[in-house]
Amino acid sequence: MNSDEVRSRFLKFFQNKGHKIIPPASLIPGDPTVLFTTAGMQQFKSYYTNPASADKDFSGRNIATAQKCIRTGDIDKVGDTTHLTFFEMLGNFSFGGYGRKEAIIYAHEFITKELGLEISHVTFYKGEGVVPRDEESKDIWAGLGVGDIRADGSDVFWGPTGDSGPCGPTTEIYCKNAEGQDVEIWNIVFNEYFCEGSREKLDKGEVKLKKLEVMGVDTGMGFERLLATVQKKKSVYETDVFNGEQIKEERIVADHIKASLFIISDGVAPSNTGRGYILRRLIRRAVRFSKQPLTRQIEKVKKIYEGVYELDDKGEIEKEESKFRRTLKHGLKEFEKGADPFTLFTTYGFPIELTLELAKEKGKKIDLEDFNRKMAEHQKLSKTSFAGMFKGGLANHNEKTIQLHTAHHLLLAGLQAMVDKNIKQRGSNITEERLRMDFLCDHKLYDEEKKKVEDWVNDKIKMGLNIVRRELLLAEAEKIGAEMEFGAKYPEIVSVYFIEPSPQSSPEGRGGNSPISIEFCGGPHVKNTSELGHFKIQKEEAVAQGIRRIKAILI
Ligand code: ALA
Repeated sequence: MNSDEVRSRFLKFFQNKGHKIIPPASLIPGDPTVLFTTAGMQQFKSYYTNPASADKDFSGRNIATAQKCIRTGDIDKVGDTTHLTFFEMLGNFSFGGYGRKEAIIYAHEFITKELGLEISHVTFYKGEGVVPRDEESKDIWAGLGVGDIRADGSDVFWGPTGDSGPCGPTTEIYCKNAEGQDVEIWNIVFNEYFCEGSREKLDKGEVKLKKLEVMGVDTGMGFERLLATVQKKKSVYETDVFNGEQIKEERIVADHIKASLFIISDGVAPSNTGRGYILRRLIRRAVRFSKQPLTRQIEKVKKIYEGVYELDDKGEIEKEESKFRRTLKHGLKEFEKGADPFTLFTTYGFPIELTLELAKEKGKKIDLEDFNRKMAEHQKLSKTSFAGMFKGGLANHNEKTIQLHTAHHLLLAGLQAMVDKNIKQRGSNITEERLRMDFLCDHKLYDEEKKKVEDWVNDKIKMGLNIVRRELLLAEAEKIGAEMEFGAKYPEIVSVYFIEPSPQSSPEGRGGNSPISIEFCGGPHVKNTSELGHFKIQKEEAVAQGIRRIKAILI
């Protein structure tokens, strides 16, 4: 059974059980508190707290997906038989449609009957604090004739992802691989709780669990591990989603290039912050371990997924490769001589993780504190020069740039209102003549979209909205969804600009008093949008894969 067949069998199986098949979400999640899509449930987080909306969106409560995922937490284990940074996750989900019994029976039927595999053992949650021991799951497994049922602790409690979310006890299915070892194949989560904080806070006991009104089911089956089991292979690299890589270095290259290709195809470019940094790390780590140029590897990955995923890195990987190959050799020499990690990063482009890895291999010590201090200094400097474009009192500010700055906020809100609510800003620049905004968007704007955005902005200008600055606690500002610069560190109290109707003038039926734009920002801005004149988009173009640029003026 090849990978295509296993994937479609899974989806078909759940379709036959009344599940709607939903296409995979982008690797860049809508949830701004996580960098990448790490699980199938990511795109469905909100349905666990608002299950009725599933009826509207999916005309039902039960769905299934094959979801592409990125997890870099175990990057140092990549190269063994099971760990990967890119993987697919097969999952079925229910938002109040069914509970433990059906979820376990479906999983059991799929594994043992549909695929003809043997379950070696299963786990269930042993209980802790407010969460009781999951006797029900244990009994269901026993009723199905599974003999080896083991109680487990925090490993079988899932979530939440990001800064809050649904969570709950899980039951896991293990099968034997070709070496006779037990490998975890499927994780079945019963989302019975909502956690107001991150997993880290939950583990520290800093946040409490609230019982959800309706229990949800979230399952995730590691596709590559499943394939290895189905195809009776010793490692995921011997399945048909790889090319039989045996040596650790080759495996790392195969995994990292695959992950990079998928990440770039979803609109990320290598950079020094956030997602772009993780991408850069993956490519540079692959370069370090690859004796050959990466071109062949890129083609190999594309071939594997032909007809399943459209992959195109638009030359970004090779561009990054040639940049890094130029300095890698010198950097390695400097490392041998004892150059410090900060110089290796700024001069030779060594991500700190790479330096740490080298140090571990060679038994050298790295002063991480010193590195962090120097980096903080460095970032403060570059941040000041960036913020310089917008800061009040700085030398090159005048009426025109201030007006364009407010128009810049309106433009972002307009793009989100008229094109895609998930659009995020990626960079900006303002001169006296024009504003420029780079933003994440998966397509070239249609003429009608540009027109709609212009009209939207001009409408807001005509409405004479107030621009109000408020100081908020960072957590409060995040909660109300203020636009922030991705990856930036903010202080405890932040300055936030609202564009909103004045209390007296808010015309009924036009959104009342609610703000149309909320952004973390140092200012300055005009007081009222009526000061802006007429807004016009001059140019819309691509700057990188998945990143568009708009230049606009006020006349
Ligand atoms: N969300 C669960 C996981 O990723 C199924 O393991």
